[in-house]
Amino acid sequence: MAENLESVLKENRVFEPDPAFARAARIQPADLEELYRRAEADHEGFWAELARSELDWQKPFTQTLDSSDPPFFQWFTDGELNVSANCLDRHLDTRGDKTAILFEGENGDVHRYTYRDMYREVCLFANALKAKGVEHGDRVIIYMPMIPQAVIAMQACARIGAIHSVVFGGFSADALRDRINDSQAKAVVTADGGTRGGKLQATKKGVDDALAGGCESLETVFVYQRTGNDVDMQSGRDVWWHDAVADQPEECEPARVNAEHPLFLLYTSGSTGKPKGIQHASAGYLLNAVCTTKWVFDIQDEDVFWCTADVGWVTGHTYVAYGPMACGATQIIYEGAPTVPDGGRFWKICQDHGVTIFYTAPTAIRALMKLGDEFPQSYDLSSLRLLGTVGEPINPEAWMWYYSVIGGERCPIVDTWWQTETGAHMIAPLPGVTTMKPGSCTRPLPGIAADVVDEDGNSITNPEQGGYLVVKKPWPSMLRTIWQNPQRYKDTYWPMFDGRFYLAGDSAHKDDDGYFWIMGRIDDVVNVSGHRLGTMEVESALVAHPQVAESAVVGIPHDVKGEGIFAFVVLKGERPEGGIDEALSKELTDWVAKQIGPIAKPEAIRFADNLPKTRSGKIMRRLLRSVAKGDEIEGDTSTLENPAIIDQLQGKI
Ligand code: WT7
Repeated sequence: MAENLESVLKENRVFEPDPAFARAARIQPADLEELYRRAEADHEGFWAELARSELDWQKPFTQTLDSSDPPFFQWFTDGELNVSANCLDRHLDTRGDKTAILFEGENGDVHRYTYRDMYREVCLFANALKAKGVEHGDRVIIYMPMIPQAVIAMQACARIGAIHSVVFGGFSADALRDRINDSQAKAVVTADGGTRGGKLQATKKGVDDALAGGCESLETVFVYQRTGNDVDMQSGRDVWWHDAVADQPEECEPARVNAEHPLFLLYTSGSTGKPKGIQHASAGYLLNAVCTTKWVFDIQDEDVFWCTADVGWVTGHTYVAYGPMACGATQIIYEGAPTVPDGGRFWKICQDHGVTIFYTAPTAIRALMKLGDEFPQSYDLSSLRLLGTVGEPINPEAWMWYYSVIGGERCPIVDTWWQTETGAHMIAPLPGVTTMKPGSCTRPLPGIAADVVDEDGNSITNPEQGGYLVVKKPWPSMLRTIWQNPQRYKDTYWPMFDGRFYLAGDSAHKDDDGYFWIMGRIDDVVNVSGHRLGTMEVESALVAHPQVAESAVVGIPHDVKGEGIFAFVVLKGERPEGGIDEALSKELTDWVAKQIGPIAKPEAIRFADNLPKTRSGKIMRRLLRSVAKGDEIEGDTSTLENPAIIDQLQGKI
């Protein structure tokens, strides 16, 4: 972290928004000042006013914020609305024939869905869910490739008040089973398969394997036919999507749900134990999704928006399934990998469909940057007017490439800091107003009381000093709790500062201009390609292998993924010569992929006779991090119970 801090403190380039962009932007400098002023003067009133102007209510709310039982905050508590109606029905008169989703499959097939088409598809599937007994409050797992039906299924759940939980299609059957069981899901929605990187993504097979392990709550599996490959259909349990919707009416009255009714659960990794089901509410979540889509992405009616995230992550919820739909935008959904058939695919899609706003992750930018400038240069990228990034700090080199080679020095870059838990952007530039600094997510948005504080909760003013990133006031799209585990919610997010501030789990520092620079996680979480993995999760997966006695996992810098996973393993049997055994490493790596998913695969495994522990038995992770990075071991190792182990860990003997 210290190293990191040094390099960002040295970054002193600034970039003003392009004047042509700035002139046409939704939010002008005076508007932004006014937003800050109103939020500052009356935090609740600010959000209440936006909730009234931005959302369609079936029953207006009278109470804005209920903070009677902190940290269980509630927003707009007595109001009623339907999220799907806010994304579809409200556009039928004004934009019924406008393209909502332009889908491109990896194989090149293109399908266009207007808002009216989406309305029809969502109603049909909502009716199919109901016909199979899915009711208000029931959980539905969505395990699909990146196709429009994933969004349709999410919207259909919202329409009937069922709670969806999307599981990333790249997660393993074991991970899927855990989530079905933890959420006690009644139905799973999947596809016969999808295509990514030229390979079949066998999602239905994944569901079959997950269910073979026993999932008592589950009644129905809906299977969308995408590829036409052979799948087993279990009678009484599995039903084809096209059969399920065949006789359904094309209208489905949107359920009236309470503002606080859970819209979805999304499982994410933490520093301990199993992934936790982050629970979001309906109205507050949608409000921040809409406001940030307008403020940060400057969405306007003619825009063609493309967020490359999969619906399996929160980015694919807020900026694919909900934000752009609620704003009536046209968006791209692409099924496949960025490098099929070659590293120009993203740029070709931007050119072919006239993408104006492009949002992706630093890991993708770095991977595509490595392939050279020829790919982007062979396409016409002049339709682009705004670029965005999310998921991890973007290194200034990647930022500069994105800015000049992709954006032609004309497109502002919005570096957006947020989390699964925050529901929407929290710290980000306003693209027509904010001066950009490569590597900084700039300043908190209006109504978001983010700050950097010390141990005691005091605001840090010294720009050279890092601290805890916190949010000091509740905001509408904040998580409400962890599914079925309120204690864990309190312990994880409100453990310090007498429970007054939301603890994000990141460290940050703030420069003289009040710009935030995110330094990394403060917990045992590794950020691999912008995706969060708990080191404990990977350790549990390794220890589940019959030959492994113990393991410790740390993050190491990785030039494309941001961070990679390095695993130290103690075997039940003999340690291999020199601490390296390639065949066994491969077996363990594949094992982790099977237990969690390919994104959790360690970059390297080193075998040792035991792990470095203090006399009280705590694994010395700091030391392991240095060893994994190949740094000199400095400082005191005298508290080590077994100092001789260091040479082994370093692979010297
Ligand atoms: C963690 C949240 C939010 C959607 C994607 C990831 C890191 C996120 C940034 C950014 C620096 C960032 C943080 C955060 N992060 N955006 N712009 N700059 N770091 O969602 O899996 O919930 O992870 O991602 O460490 O806590 P997530």
